[in-house]
Amino acid sequence: EKGGYQHFMLKEIHEQPKAIKDTISPRLNEHNEIVLDDIKITKEELERINKIMIVACGTAAYAGLIGKYAIEKFAKIPVEWDIASEFRYRDPFVDDKTLVISISQSGETADTLAALREAKEKGARVMAVTNVVGSRISREADDVFYTWAGPEIAVASTKAYVTQLIAMYLIALNMGIKKGVLSKEKHDAVLMELKALPEKAEKILFDKNILQSLADKQFNNQSVFYIGRGLDDYVSREGSLKLKEISYIHSEAIAAGELKHGTIALIEEGTLVVALATQDSLYDKMLSNIKEVKARGAYVIAVAKETNKEIEKSADTVIYIPETMDELTAVLSVIPLQLLAYYIAVARGCDVDKPKNLAKSVTVE
Ligand code: F6R
Repeated sequence: EKGGYQHFMLKEIHEQPKAIKDTISPRLNEHNEIVLDDIKITKEELERINKIMIVACGTAAYAGLIGKYAIEKFAKIPVEWDIASEFRYRDPFVDDKTLVISISQSGETADTLAALREAKEKGARVMAVTNVVGSRISREADDVFYTWAGPEIAVASTKAYVTQLIAMYLIALNMGIKKGVLSKEKHDAVLMELKALPEKAEKILFDKNILQSLADKQFNNQSVFYIGRGLDDYVSREGSLKLKEISYIHSEAIAAGELKHGTIALIEEGTLVVALATQDSLYDKMLSNIKEVKARGAYVIAVAKETNKEIEKSADTVIYIPETMDELTAVLSVIPLQLLAYYIAVARGCDVDKPKNLAKSVTVE
């Protein structure tokens, strides 16, 4: 049942190219337009919406951060982001001009469901992004987008996350066109790049031995820091969560620009820093941040686009991802982070698929 893989997690990491393809293809018609069958919001209804709130837990919430970025960029609607367990208790300002998007792999997470109900009660329209057909969250939402990742068994979410990213990109592009704020050219260019991602993801998986040997040397850290800017900051939160939940190493992700506002105090000789530097417009800033932590003795693993070799001068090890648009790098850059977390956990002898204290679906509060 694990298809020859040692763990479900590794199998599911390898299923990502297919999961991406399966989530995109059924949504495209013969004119290369995005058709979202279960999203019923009309152009007029969308035009009335003046704010979107994305609400979820854990990995799904981190996918939501990228959703915020994509919607603001492609559909030009302001987006707030919140953790479901915070949203539901803070009496958020929500009205009938608000669209709330809940993201949940299982579609059963208690806090996410409660947040959705809270939003509906306040008059919001609710859209669900979920991997389970007929789940409670899908039944209670007005609009639904199903991620076709297939069943996810490992507690640590991997393929569900990447399909959530794809969902958010498709929703954002679709909204941009519906609202008339996104040019057809840009839409088509992003779509073409989205379709090219499965093959690029395969390439990263093909080179996974690099991450395994890196993990074999870096598994004994007390603490790991993930840094990035823009989209990379969002992806590093997911990378950090992956590491801590399956390897039990303390890890945290912080926006690289925040380093000098406190966290840099913790960087010392040998501290592992994973630095994401995939964004062209932020590349130089990231190089300076890498130099800053190197100067304090950090061991830096960088993740960069394969065209940006300059970074080899600053980082100790560089993991390359294939070239893609800056807006879409998240789908690729998360894969080395998943593999790094996985191999570190294996090297530490952890029960990767069933980490202690964690359940696959959190239906209690
Ligand atoms: C981490 C992980 C959790 C879930 C979270 C939400 O790998 O799996 O953080 O993402 O519990 O679960 P869903 O998406 O089912 O609502």
